[in-house]
Amino acid sequence: MCGIVGYVGKRNSQNILIEGLKKLEYRGYDSAGLAVFTEEGLQIKKAKGRLVNLENKLDVEPLNGFIGIGHTRWATHGKPSDVNSHPHTDNSQKFSVVHNGIIENYVALKEELTALGHVFVSETDTEVISHLIASLYEGDIVKAVQKAVTRMHGAFALGVLTEYEPDKLVAVRYSSPLIIGVGEGENFIGSDIPAILEYTRNVYILNDGEMAVLTKDGVELMTLEGNFISRELFYVDWDIITAEKAGFDHFMLKEIYEQPKAYRDTMGSRIDESGTKVVLNEVKMTAEQVKSIQQVHIIACGTAYHAGLVGKSIIEKLARIPVETDVASEYRYRSPIITPNTLVIVVSQSGETADTLAALREAKRCGARVVAITNVVGSSVAREADDVIVTWAGPEIAVASTKAYTSQLIAFYLFGLYLAQTLGSQEAEYIASVVSELKELPAKVEQILEQGEAFKDWAEQVASHNNLFFIGRGLDYAVALEGSLKLKEISYIHSEAYPAGELKHGTLALIEEGVPVIALAIQDDLFEKTVSNIKEVKARGAYVFGLHAEGETELVKAVDQVFSIPHTLPLLSPALSVVPLQLLAYYASLARGNDVDKPRNLAKSVTVE
Ligand code: M6R
Repeated sequence: MCGIVGYVGKRNSQNILIEGLKKLEYRGYDSAGLAVFTEEGLQIKKAKGRLVNLENKLDVEPLNGFIGIGHTRWATHGKPSDVNSHPHTDNSQKFSVVHNGIIENYVALKEELTALGHVFVSETDTEVISHLIASLYEGDIVKAVQKAVTRMHGAFALGVLTEYEPDKLVAVRYSSPLIIGVGEGENFIGSDIPAILEYTRNVYILNDGEMAVLTKDGVELMTLEGNFISRELFYVDWDIITAEKAGFDHFMLKEIYEQPKAYRDTMGSRIDESGTKVVLNEVKMTAEQVKSIQQVHIIACGTAYHAGLVGKSIIEKLARIPVETDVASEYRYRSPIITPNTLVIVVSQSGETADTLAALREAKRCGARVVAITNVVGSSVAREADDVIVTWAGPEIAVASTKAYTSQLIAFYLFGLYLAQTLGSQEAEYIASVVSELKELPAKVEQILEQGEAFKDWAEQVASHNNLFFIGRGLDYAVALEGSLKLKEISYIHSEAYPAGELKHGTLALIEEGVPVIALAIQDDLFEKTVSNIKEVKARGAYVFGLHAEGETELVKAVDQVFSIPHTLPLLSPALSVVPLQLLAYYASLARGNDVDKPRNLAKSVTVE
């Protein structure tokens, strides 16, 4: 996730900015940069890769000055490179901007500014902001920023400097976090508290739609419309480790709670302004190429494979093309039938998983077109695929994948809709209704997370067992597989996910008095069948925790405990129903005293076969 630091005061800003960025390194980044107002005016230095690359450049040519902004970038729009790194500037080089978030309408703004003579050098959405502010500047940077943000759609936290007003640092928060640190004769901005904790513990937390103007002598808070705000300072009593996790006990929990934002960011500019269809500019297939697809192979490992199982149902339902989902380590050894009319989709959070990469290469060798769904721009998978749909979940630090999985689901919904639009396999009205429900998902996840603590109780009951089952049918079964993996991975409790209707063919023998069964009964059309299967395990003594959709009244009679999730289209339900299972795994791991973020025997990125 990108990191922002800003400083205005009496000390050398370069050192403070670099130290602040070092405190944000744990979040992951692929390039970094600083802009400082020096004797020569506003100067920028940027470098791809680790911060040390930037430091090496600064050793040769330091940026000496008392006001500056710094940034660590996690690429979303455009590959990791010096030129795509922040800070960005305009053609006059008098303005400089660091940005976290995504500008959804940057293409339209870029076209408008290009027509006015602006020349862009990077592939980023952020560069548009510096040009936009420059174009609106009439002697007052605060007003220029206020005007610019009215033109921007999406999520943004900004730090802005101009050479014309070298005593001011302007900060904006809109759907992307930003805090203001208040010192004596110096003030700071940071995307996260660790960036400034070494210098001050007094902060203002900006709310969405607020901005701040910092000089060395003070901080003014105001709305984006310019109305001044008075606010109490917040004293941060966290240590650095707690601050890195934004107050959460573990990165996994933080990342579970980041899912609504990850959904919104991943949908971002990919839903058109009318809110009725999907725009996937990054997929460069022609309509003819899409129409020639005869089969789809989805290949991935672990959690990404589970996302692929949901992806199969999405594509088959929306595009009516046959889909096979395969574990990458099996795929290339089973002589898969790949033809030039096969579309291969590889899914990988890291983009570096050895088995997935090898399967991608095999698919390409056989002449298939490959689409990658990945969270890392510039990863091996992203570089080698023909088309790349980036999930904008931000870096995932916990080994257990949560927000990456759900963002992969969002990518599949978008891709399935894109195929349906191109093929005409669904009515425009139906597509619009799916898009409209898709947009509701982040708020519905928030509703589930508000009740997150409810899962502590479930988890504590489950944690004393060594074996349990997850059951479901259809998409509920696909989600059950992910719930089971999550539980195994971090709690070390053995669990099995089973298609509920399949238990009677053998596994029912393992159900005895008190065995916990987590039953998903979300899919409307399979509800009654699932309830019958739940009765089968109940009759053999299982203790059943049920998940159902809000408004459903029957499940409560069949299970021991029940939790409801908000209602959505059955096809979209995995993006909601997995969240309680992630929380269940998290709290079960906690109840067993495990190291949640670093489970035994596992690595975040598996780069060996
Ligand atoms: O980076 P990838 O998505 O390719 O990783 C694949 C699996 O190794 C990964 O999903 C793994 O299963 C997770 N630890 C599960 O939480």
